[in-house]
Amino acid sequence: PSDTGRVLSIQSHTVQGYVGNKSAVFPLQLLGFDVDPINSVQFSNHTGYPTFRGQVLNGSQLWDLIEGLAENDLLHYTHLLTGYIGSVSFLTTVLQVVDKLRSVNPDLVYVCDPVLGDEGKLYVPQDLISVYQQKVVPVATMLTPNQFEVELLTGLRITCEEDGLKACNALHSAGPRKVVITSALIEDKLLLIGSHKKAKEQPPEQFKIEIPKIPAYFTGTGDLTTALLLGWSNKYPDNLERAAELAVSSLQALLRRTVEDYKRAGFDPSTSSLEIRLIQSQDEIRRPQITCKAVKY
Ligand code: ATP
Ligand code: PLP
Ligand code: MG
Ligand code: NA
Ligand code: MG
Repeated sequence: PSDTGRVLSIQSHTVQGYVGNKSAVFPLQLLGFDVDPINSVQFSNHTGYPTFRGQVLNGSQLWDLIEGLAENDLLHYTHLLTGYIGSVSFLTTVLQVVDKLRSVNPDLVYVCDPVLGDEGKLYVPQDLISVYQQKVVPVATMLTPNQFEVELLTGLRITCEEDGLKACNALHSAGPRKVVITSALIEDKLLLIGSHKKAKEQPPEQFKIEIPKIPAYFTGTGDLTTALLLGWSNKYPDNLERAAELAVSSLQALLRRTVEDYKRAGFDPSTSSLEIRLIQSQDEIRRPQITCKAVKY
């Protein structure tokens, strides 16, 4: 039994640094969840470094772990969280996992970060796109794409806020009740756009949060955003706005700390990809002060 929830998190693991499960597990634990990570890859470091090495889990190895849990009646999850997935066979197995978990708990919340690429660059095989469109999006409870991923999933270009809202509507009609475009650069502003379709016959409640852009490039922040959105929307299931304000505000405090720490150590944060100061920001994760407010559409 667990008060808050038990999350099965299928994401990357890096020995050093914070992406994938390394950036999702600790914050969810801080927010009171039991978190069971399955490492879809184990790499030395994230792929933004000059080199990386390690191992990749395949679909049948994933299924083996699920069967092990099933044999011992250990598949009682409230949430499934998935991030970067590198092959169609692995993604197909994830779909089997969704079915299996829902056969145990029909109310399972599936939070899916449909990682396809960023800033116009695809970083998964092309044939994953249609699997996400046709099979994954329909079973997701909450979807957290970035701007480029929304465009790939819907076929709609997003050049203004109105486009973003329309794309959210299109995604709702394919399945998920909650859609959060975790980052979109629109008219030179960095925005998070949220959309919550509370009832079938009603239009979704939609909002944006403008995010002060820090002149640096971070990795692991997308994965952290999705984890925080899962955590806070479990606490505020009917208030996606609130959940997003809390997620964005703690993330901004963490990023400010990250930049300050690098500066203090004599690095120029604008020139390199930074490892986030996740552990050092635990207070801001547990009890964020809302600094970024949502604006309703
Ligand atoms: P995914 O990882 O799923 O592709 P994403 O592209 O939205 O998602 P990021 O670009 O890391 O992931 O953005 C996620 C969040 O991280 C943003 O909502 C924002 O709060 C924060 N963030 C990332 N980079 C910056 C930055 N340079 N300045 C301010 N906030 C940032
Ligand atoms: N997973 C792995 C193994 C990575 O190397 C990276 C980025 O380099 C990510 C995930 C992406 O992290 P995010 O999108 O949260 O910045
Ligand atoms: Mg991005
Ligand atoms: Na995202
Ligand atoms: Mg990303």
